[in-house]
Amino acid sequence: MNGDKPIPGPRAREWVERDKRAISPSYTRAYPFVMERGKGVEVWDVDGNRYLDFNAGVAVLATGHCHPEVVKAIKEQAEKFIHMAGTDFYYPVQIRLAEKLNEIAPIKEDTLVFFVNSGAEAVESAFKLARYATRRPLTLAFIGAFHGRTMGAITLTASKAVQKRGFYPMVPGVVHVPYAYCYRCAFKQEYPSCDLYCVKYIEEVVFHTYAPGDEFSAIFVEPIQGEGGYVVPPPEFFPRLWELADKYGILLVVDEIQSGMGRTGKMFAIEHWGVEPDIVCVAKGIASGLPLGAMVARKSLMTWPSGAHGNTFGGNPISCAAALVTIKLLEEELIENAARMGEYAMNRLKEMAEKHPIIGDVRGKGLMIGVELVKDRETREAIPEVRDQAVYKAFERGLLLLGCGLSTVRMMPPLSITKDLLDEGLDIFEGVLADIEEELF
Ligand SMILES: Cc1ncc(COP(=O)(O)O)c(C=O)c1O
Repeated sequence: MNGDKPIPGPRAREWVERDKRAISPSYTRAYPFVMERGKGVEVWDVDGNRYLDFNAGVAVLATGHCHPEVVKAIKEQAEKFIHMAGTDFYYPVQIRLAEKLNEIAPIKEDTLVFFVNSGAEAVESAFKLARYATRRPLTLAFIGAFHGRTMGAITLTASKAVQKRGFYPMVPGVVHVPYAYCYRCAFKQEYPSCDLYCVKYIEEVVFHTYAPGDEFSAIFVEPIQGEGGYVVPPPEFFPRLWELADKYGILLVVDEIQSGMGRTGKMFAIEHWGVEPDIVCVAKGIASGLPLGAMVARKSLMTWPSGAHGNTFGGNPISCAAALVTIKLLEEELIENAARMGEYAMNRLKEMAEKHPIIGDVRGKGLMIGVELVKDRETREAIPEVRDQAVYKAFERGLLLLGCGLSTVRMMPPLSITKDLLDEGLDIFEGVLADIEEELF
């Protein structure tokens, strides 16, 4: 129930039935939320129920639903022209956005931009460019990583077996190694006494036994693993990885598709670690909900000639107009708000963890926060079904959440969220945990 109305309501139920008859069963819906409209952090379903959107359309709506300045920019551009194939023709809004991305990219050297429509395509582009620029056949990626679903991107992905089952063979030459997931270390070591064995392992084991370091073109890595469980690596991880990449002449490609565009309280999450990548992939939050992605790479790497890579819709003018306004709003206030509200939310969740033993770990940066649920804090036993129940119960009470990883609930509201709405959502979440604990323990 949401207020006095049943959830899902009769209209939502009807749409879900129609959806089942018309749309691919591979979609991944956690609960029957059927959207009617949204404003900022609030959304309403087709039965008139109000919810708080702590997903932001899966980390897309950085500026919230229908920010008036974004809507205005979209309308104005739509009146002028809607499409003109940015890889074949020129238009100022695409050039202006590329200039802006080159200015904000976390790379000191000059960079160039390649525009796409989605995260997966940004990753594909980086995969191709890394091979082209280095002429090296191998690529390193991390267990738990999610980089998208097209053939190259899914090869780099290693977050859920269902995403790969039935689709082999993958693209040859990709080697996966454990990520710095200290709460569940693959090597069963403890931080900091491990001395970052996960990075050492790459050199000592992978490069010295079965895949020589100088055969690798790139290391693909999420600054904070998203789909894999909102996993924040320890402070030394990225500097050590950067050092390793440099030693072997391997490109560092950071996938900022979920963690970028202000979400973590900095424009790009990699800035938290003072590391300079060679290529940055962005999408999701860049255009407040319009489809757009970009690969930003060092100019010295973009040696590929005309015709080597392109697409029809990348850099759509309406998406570019929305992106320019989005970046302006991020710079003016939203990045700072994400840092402030994120700190507040983390503190509240850590206080919650003192009262609720079901919370095994709270981690995150800015408004990219994961709460890992466990059966027992000592054994850290994961409880994926209970996590799913928590997400569903939150939906019934008017809070839209999603899971990630094995047993984690993620919180990624619009970066414009206020303290009042954050508190409203966190109160609902705490109520859900209390009820589940009563049933469980
Ligand atoms: C880190 C990361 N990379 C890549 C992607 C793929 O993006 P898209 O779904 O736009 O293809 C996602 C999507 O969730 C992501 O979180």
